[in-house]
Amino acid sequence: MEMKIIQSPAEMQLQAHTWKKEGMQIALVPTMGCLHAGHLSLMRKAAENADRIIASIFVNPIQFGPHEDFDAYPRQFQADCDLAEKEGVHVIFCPDTKGMYPHGFQTTVSVGTLSQGMCGANRPGHFDGVATVVSKLLHLTSPDVAIFGEKDFQQLAIIRQMVRDLNFPATIVGAPIVREEDGLAMSSRNKYLQGEMRTQALCLYRSIQSAQKKVAHEQQVVAADTIIEATKKTVAEAGGKLEYAVVINEHSLQAETLVGSSSVLAIAVKIGGVVRLIDNSKLFTTMK
Ligand code: PAF
Repeated sequence: MEMKIIQSPAEMQLQAHTWKKEGMQIALVPTMGCLHAGHLSLMRKAAENADRIIASIFVNPIQFGPHEDFDAYPRQFQADCDLAEKEGVHVIFCPDTKGMYPHGFQTTVSVGTLSQGMCGANRPGHFDGVATVVSKLLHLTSPDVAIFGEKDFQQLAIIRQMVRDLNFPATIVGAPIVREEDGLAMSSRNKYLQGEMRTQALCLYRSIQSAQKKVAHEQQVVAADTIIEATKKTVAEAGGKLEYAVVINEHSLQAETLVGSSSVLAIAVKIGGVVRLIDNSKLFTTMK
């Protein structure tokens, strides 16, 4: 089946309804394009879970703050289509802004407490923008399953909550972070890392690795503060600017004082004063 490119939301909805009537299982992979190996892993997971794969490519303006990188966000539509086609994607859904937010649009989906800390505290309105667009994408594509990367850990928790709260009939599946060989988590924003910044960006993964080692080797329960202080030091030494480092419960996203089996270290750092990167990991792993 040749890959189709659909721009119109109405046509997308019709195609999804037709597939549903034919008894097809649909998987949605929502993206903002500039596809990398992380996105391709989501598409592979989608293929394991469904007969029809829809990948959306939409740089969603309402999830960017006024001083953020909406205009500069990397766009490479043709290359994205080629990559998606190789992964067996059936439809690229690429609406334009007017199609998604026509004149007079005024609804916002907002997920409470989960949206408030971490990235939410540093990017006001960001998660309302994400929740709103993801609701629309779910309505337009009727997926049985939608796949999201675990790199955006808070986003994934918010979407799971929204889908529960609003009774979307879709299963949300998280896919593990894909890393470059040296550990840098794949991100479309890695394209912004010039020269020295690329090396500095390793401070996120280095912080995660040393936290995991500490937890694995320590005989006693590790205090979250120890991990956070070590992360601050690692980031500062690399010349990064720490936005936040938190040890949280993987489900509630509430801060934990002691590292337990559900603890996650989540970090956001600005590299070179401009490139904002995030990363996270569970702290109890099988790594020794
Ligand atoms: O993770 C992303 O790329 C975006 O936040 C998403 C989920 C596609 C919504 O615009």
